Amino acid sequence: MPSGSEPMGGYRFSDKIMLGEKSDKGEGLMGRLDGKVAVVTGAGSGIGRATSMLFAREGARLLVADLKADGVNETARMITQAGGTARAMVGDAGDEATVKSIIESAVSAFGMLDIIHANAGVSGGSVPLFEQTEEYWRQILQTNLMGPFFAIKHAGKRMVEQGRGAIILTSSVAGLRANAGAAAYSASKAGVISLAQTAAAAFLGTGVRVNAICPGLIETAMTKPFFDSVRAAGKEHKIGQLNPLQRAGQPEEIAAMALFLASDEASYVNGQAFAADGGLSSSLPFSRPIR
Ligand SMILES: NC(=O)c1ccc[n+]([C@@H]2O[C@H](COP(=O)([O-])OP(=O)(O)OC[C@H]3O[C@@H](n4cnc5c(N)ncnc54)[C@H](O)[C@@H]3O)[C@@H](O)[C@H]2O)c1
Repeated sequence: MPSGSEPMGGYRFSDKIMLGEKSDKGEGLMGRLDGKVAVVTGAGSGIGRATSMLFAREGARLLVADLKADGVNETARMITQAGGTARAMVGDAGDEATVKSIIESAVSAFGMLDIIHANAGVSGGSVPLFEQTEEYWRQILQTNLMGPFFAIKHAGKRMVEQGRGAIILTSSVAGLRANAGAAAYSASKAGVISLAQTAAAAFLGTGVRVNAICPGLIETAMTKPFFDSVRAAGKEHKIGQLNPLQRAGQPEEIAAMALFLASDEASYVNGQAFAADGGLSSSLPFSRPIR
């Protein structure tokens, strides 16, 4: 069992957002994912690593997967060092045969599969609309939309046999509204929301749940160029000012939502897309409200 007392290495927390830490479990106290087996894709960095760490901390055994060996091996090392159980696999989450083999490896290692967080994604950068090529669109859709579809298809088959399962997809606020990413990225993430809805309906009567998370601006490797450029310009105080919390989010704040959706606490939550964005998608960026 995870010790639960290790700090989540490498992440910066403010005093106000100490997520993911939990006190040592006493005898007889359960972790929120005790006995469960989870796969996380894009687990070598950012949101995927934070989710993997938190799932492990709550008792899940994990298969963590990523395109990049260094990152995913480090995630697995961090989990095992903290007393958890994780195996790392290097592979492309946008390739069907690879996704199938990741899922088969998890089942073969741990005997079952309860949770998959199809989280791997690429932003595609800020390429102007008229410069976006077919190849550019295909690459983004392959990872961001086909990847989650492959995860649903192959993890879902196993989960249907088991009569239970939680599938969590990482969408984005860019899938809800324009202006948070280029067209291909936004369209891919809007597709992910539809996948959560349509797959939940397709799993009718099976006990398998599918939900999506729509993060706002989260400080990860993906958004590092943005954070770096704003800081270099001395404008850090402007980061996140468009949302009512007036700050960017940390990966652990998305992991906390993933944990809820993965756990039995969300047993009646299905086919939904939840924004975790400081309120960005709920408000219009007009003049400041009076309080
Ligand atoms: N950071 C944000 O502000 C933000 C906001 C909304 C949504 N998201 C989404 O969150 C998810 C995680 O992103 P992040 O912010 O943690 O970024 P990140 O770059 O820190 O992590 C993404 C990870 O996915 C891996 N990856 C990329 N393509 C892959 C592929 N084809 N197969 C396997 N692994 C692959 C990368 O190697 C990396 O380790 C993505 O789907 C992203 O679109 C991020």
